[in-house]
Amino acid sequence: MFYDDELKALKRSSLFRERTLYDEGLVDLASNDYLSLSSNKELFEKAVERVKNYPHHAPRASQLVNGYHPVHKAFEEYLVSTNGFEDAIVVGSGFLANIALLEALPRKGDLLLVDEEYHASGILASKLTGAKVVFFSHNSGVALEKLLKENSYKRAIVAVEGIYSMSGDLLKREIFDVADKYGALLVVDEAHSSGVVGENFLGVFDLFGITPKPNHIKMGTLGKAIGSYGAYILASKEIIHFLQNRAKSIIYATAPSLFDIALAHEGMKFIEANRMGFIEKRNRAQALTREIFDKQVEGLVLNIEIADNRKVLQIKERLLERGIIVGAIRPPTVKRAILRVILNLGVEDLETTLLKIKEAIDEL
Ligand SMILES: Cc1ncc(COP(=O)(O)O)c(C=O)c1O
Repeated sequence: MFYDDELKALKRSSLFRERTLYDEGLVDLASNDYLSLSSNKELFEKAVERVKNYPHHAPRASQLVNGYHPVHKAFEEYLVSTNGFEDAIVVGSGFLANIALLEALPRKGDLLLVDEEYHASGILASKLTGAKVVFFSHNSGVALEKLLKENSYKRAIVAVEGIYSMSGDLLKREIFDVADKYGALLVVDEAHSSGVVGENFLGVFDLFGITPKPNHIKMGTLGKAIGSYGAYILASKEIIHFLQNRAKSIIYATAPSLFDIALAHEGMKFIEANRMGFIEKRNRAQALTREIFDKQVEGLVLNIEIADNRKVLQIKERLLERGIIVGAIRPPTVKRAILRVILNLGVEDLETTLLKIKEAIDEL
């Protein structure tokens, strides 16, 4: 049989992965549905209404052919006005956006510097570029500056995340300072920070009060806090023009789903309108993690190291029996097994749920 040995090896080391249909009634602290927008039926209905009014409800083609639609354009204009960048482009998913950015932007003679904890999509993309690629110590402005100083290059491109998906670490502000000082392009993947941090829930630019500069590029995903599916890139006009001419995952792919973009647009407007309530809930969730786990969480990802593949699965099972789902993340996604708990702000009694998680960990 094909792949028999490989599959057996995965099972032996408790690393075999499965797709499971979980009970929808579980308290969900596993999904990236940070604000519980994925179950907001009003947003769903509004998006359906919006798309229904057009002759076509599907994108039909690449954005570069005939797939670019008023629903895409309106969303891009909204993104530009709320985030203060010059231009925007919608992309099919965050995975495709990272392929677009890290494959197309670094050219021959350029230097691509990637945080060692960057998402797998960016790591894959970095293998496809013609540029020299170097990984730097996680979130270290010192390591980044050393590389920018010691290497010669035509252009430097730095890739980092706003909130790191697994560790939950917040991007250090000094990374912005170093990139700006050396005139490097800075790609910030805001998959886990847009819709999560900042006074306006727009991500780390919002949190740090940084006005976007021509060397700044922001990538945001729509399948997490925003409660839809897809992604977008915000940057200067030149960079967006370059991507629409060179990024294969934009050019040779059907344009993003109209319904998903309309839903994301509704989701973002909803966050904007309800921002004060969300801020209160976010503060409370972060205070609870300090009280219960003695951990300071900057975003809404609580990472609890278990460092044992079997044990992390046992804890997850025990919590499932008690009606709670959390992430049991194992290598190679992380170096050592972790429980990944999403502080979902829509959960009714987050305190009791977190106490139950603490109890299950302490029992094993
Ligand atoms: C940091 C990060 N970047 C990119 C992606 C990919 O985004 P998408 O799921 O929209 O393809 C993810 C997660 O899936 C992620 O966690």
